[in-house]
Amino acid sequence: MIFRLDRFLSECDASMTRKSAKALLRDGAVSVNGVVVRDAACKVNTETDAVTVGGKAITYMQFRYFLLNKPAGVLSASRDRHASTVLDLIDGISGEFFPVGRLDKDTEGLLLITNDGALAHELLSPKKHVPKTYIAVCSGTVGEEACERLQAGVDLGDFTSAPAKVRKMAEGTETTTLAITITEGKFHQVKRMVAAVGSEVQYLRRVRMGGLWLPLDLSTGTYRELDGETLKKTLYQDEINDDERLLRSYL
Ligand code: URA
Repeated sequence: MIFRLDRFLSECDASMTRKSAKALLRDGAVSVNGVVVRDAACKVNTETDAVTVGGKAITYMQFRYFLLNKPAGVLSASRDRHASTVLDLIDGISGEFFPVGRLDKDTEGLLLITNDGALAHELLSPKKHVPKTYIAVCSGTVGEEACERLQAGVDLGDFTSAPAKVRKMAEGTETTTLAITITEGKFHQVKRMVAAVGSEVQYLRRVRMGGLWLPLDLSTGTYRELDGETLKKTLYQDEINDDERLLRSYL
C-alpha cells in the first residue's frame, strides 16, 4: 500500500497522531531508505520502503488489535453521532476499526477492537464456541437450583441457552456474585439468563474471551495493543486456566 508518510507513521503506531508524526518529521527523526525525510506528504510503499524513526525500523501492519477495558456508559459501536463509542477511546484509529461483538452500554470489561474482519467473523461464529466469562452481580439470592438451571441451559423464549459454567463467587443479603461462562453471544444473553431464574444483573463485567483474560493492571477506559499472532494463539488455546483464584482477583 502507498501512504503519505505522516499517515504511514500514525497507522503504524496507535499512540501517534498525524500531528505528532509531523513534529517527528520536522525534527528530522524519520528516515526513508536511509535518507532523512521532513516532508509529511512524501509517499511510502509499505512493501518496499524501509522507514525508521529515531533509528528504529517501523513496520506496517495491515491488521491491528486492541484490548480495551470498556467502561460503562460507552457504546460498543463503530461510530455514533450522539454518543461516545469504544472507538473514541483508542487513539489514532480510523473508521475501518470495529469492536468484535458487543457489550451492552452498561457492561464493562474485555472488548477487542480491530480492523481484522476475518478474526471478528471467526470469533463471533457460533461454531467456534469461544468461551466468554462474565462476573455478574445479581440481585438477591441466587440459589443452588437457579445455578443448576443456568448451567443446564434456560428457556429464553426465542432460544434455549447452551450449557454454561456457573460459579458462585460471593453471596450477601442483597446480592449474589456469579462467574458465568457462556459459549454463545446472543443479545443481552447473560442478563436474560439471570432474569429467567428470577434475579436481575446489577453489574456485568467480561473478564475472559477464550484464553485471553482482562489484564488486572489495565484500568477501566484504557487499552493495550496486542500482536496478532499471540492474540490468536491465546484466544484459541485448548487448555484454559479457569482457576478460582484468578476469577476472584476480578471481584
Ligand atoms: N450478556 C449481556 O447480557 N450483556 C452483555 O453486555 C454481554 C453479555
